[in-house]
Amino acid sequence: MKSITLTQYLIEQQREKGAVSAELRLLIEVVARACKRISHAVSKGALGGVLGGAGTDNIQGEAQKKLDVIANEVLVEANEWGGHLAALASEEMEHPHQIPSRYPRGEFLLLMDPLDGSSNIDVNVSIGTIFSVLRCPDGVVDPDEKAFLQPGTNQVAAGFAVYGPCTILVLTVGAGVAAFTLDRELGSFVMTQSEIKLSPDTQEFAINASNMRNWEAPVRRYIDECLAGKTGVRGKDFNMRWVASMVADVFRILSRGGIFMYPCDAKHKAGRLRLMYEANPMAFIIEQAGGAATDGRRRIMEIQPEQLHQRVGVVLGSKAEVDRVTQYHLEAPARA
Ligand code: AHG
Ligand code: MN
Ligand code: MN
Repeated sequence: MKSITLTQYLIEQQREKGAVSAELRLLIEVVARACKRISHAVSKGALGGVLGGAGTDNIQGEAQKKLDVIANEVLVEANEWGGHLAALASEEMEHPHQIPSRYPRGEFLLLMDPLDGSSNIDVNVSIGTIFSVLRCPDGVVDPDEKAFLQPGTNQVAAGFAVYGPCTILVLTVGAGVAAFTLDRELGSFVMTQSEIKLSPDTQEFAINASNMRNWEAPVRRYIDECLAGKTGVRGKDFNMRWVASMVADVFRILSRGGIFMYPCDAKHKAGRLRLMYEANPMAFIIEQAGGAATDGRRRIMEIQPEQLHQRVGVVLGSKAEVDRVTQYHLEAPARA
């Protein structure tokens, strides 16, 4: 098979489908290049001095790891001077980062989770980077937080990198989902999956079961039915996986189906994951692959964000399973 690089894929999308403008192509290539640098830093581990805590907290009150800070810096530095961004926002920065006045401004807003799966850095388990691209609203010159508060349906592109046994970049520009594997000798991302399609059904679920005592009734019901396996109403056995890096769990689901849940519960009342740079980009990718993504009740991409760093319950993956969980929520009495 003739190999197609990310650059070639983007040029084809630009020429044939009109899905990508020259400026958006530049943006995606710059993000991909930054992901290569992060991948390189990750692969050095203790030898590169990148493990351990940074000694600081982010806006969520979470202790930052060195790699959270490094990945954020790499992405900001790579993106701020190219002329393709109006501003960018990150899990690791309280407010949107303005483009320095010495550089030209572009039409896009970039949102990112620079390092997803921070708890896995020091134990050598897959981690990644997630990003989402919006258009800067017309007439906005200095985009503040308000400019970013757009529903996920406005996304023009979304993607994530997984730094695992190999480094993989998954991308959608709204015309399906493709995956690219980093060829370290060539320094290029080479397409390894062209039209990812999720199977509608699954026998595998992903949830952090240590939160079980805090779950709401619809989540309990769904998981209890999965655990009952052949002997229960589902009439089939289920398998369970939980990597604790959303990038790795979502990549597995894209590869062989499944459902991923980090629902609202009594402890995480508003959810655990962040709407704008975790849930929305993953929801866009999953929907583009034929799956579904809700907060248990509503389609994630239709939620109107009220805050840059707001959290949301997440149920995503194979459509029939997500529909079932959503149905269980809708049948249950509304949350107090
Ligand atoms: P981050 O490292 O960016 O804060 O995100 C971690 C997220 C997500 O990747 C994962 O699914 C979830 O947190 C894991 O949470 P638990 O540790 O509660 O299982
Ligand atoms: Mn994350
Ligand atoms: Mn993160």
